[in-house]
Amino acid sequence: MAYREAQEKMKAGGEAQAPAGESLIPVFIMGKRYEVPDTLTIQKAMEYAGYQLIRGCGCRGGICGACGTVYRMPDTYRIEVGLACQTVVKPNMYLTQIPFFPANKTIYNIDELQPTGSTIAQLYPEVFKCVGCNTCTRSCPMDIEVMEYMSQAIRGNVERVAELSFDCVMCGLCASRCPAEEVQFNVAILCRRLYAKYLAPRAEHLAQMVSVLDGGKYKGGLKKLMESDTDELKKLYVERETEPEGADEFWTPQNTQYL
Ligand code: SF4
Ligand code: SF4
Ligand code: FES
Repeated sequence: MAYREAQEKMKAGGEAQAPAGESLIPVFIMGKRYEVPDTLTIQKAMEYAGYQLIRGCGCRGGICGACGTVYRMPDTYRIEVGLACQTVVKPNMYLTQIPFFPANKTIYNIDELQPTGSTIAQLYPEVFKCVGCNTCTRSCPMDIEVMEYMSQAIRGNVERVAELSFDCVMCGLCASRCPAEEVQFNVAILCRRLYAKYLAPRAEHLAQMVSVLDGGKYKGGLKKLMESDTDELKKLYVERETEPEGADEFWTPQNTQYL
């Protein structure tokens, strides 16, 4: 609420005041100077300044990778990158949101591929242009060893690429800074798909569950939910049985109809 009041005041041309316990710092958004609380992330600071984020904003929790941002500090020539929802503003930061950029994404049918280095080389031959500069690793907000997984891709080690890139949120910041115009995250997701389909041990319980789903066990329950009105849904939600705090792995609900 304090933010909203301060924001309204700033919009009305008044002097912005920091909410209690926080200081205002200057930042430059698309070239215009704003004063924003120093505790805000870039995303919240932009909204505080009056921007409405329609694109380039998703989960707000560092997971979806939609909010890649470029910024510069006045005392250095370096271009910095980060996720707008995770990076806290700094005094005199010059920032802008980057739109999506056209990344090379090969179309393939995973059922027709082999989990080998030849597949990577055929679909993403540009991996061999990597110059080993490590800019991708330095740009990654998830602290992934991006150059290392690209190196493993060049060697054809699908499993290792899948492991190293597991936390990738597909934000594209590595590609945005790569001098060799690699699209690291698309190479990585190809390898994770190949690994999951061909190399990872089969999960028996998953196969069983898929066959239960195919058998239509949940169709009746889903239909009932879809036909419920808002009040019924609220009642069901409030009365649902939840796992107690500290329950162990053997806990089961009293109603086992859908287990
Ligand atoms: S930024 Fe590009 S060229 Fe540099 S190490 Fe990463 S993938 Fe290779
Ligand atoms: S590997 Fe690239 S796309 Fe994936 S999270 Fe890191 S910077 Fe983003
Ligand atoms: S909004 Fe999803 S990662 Fe920032």
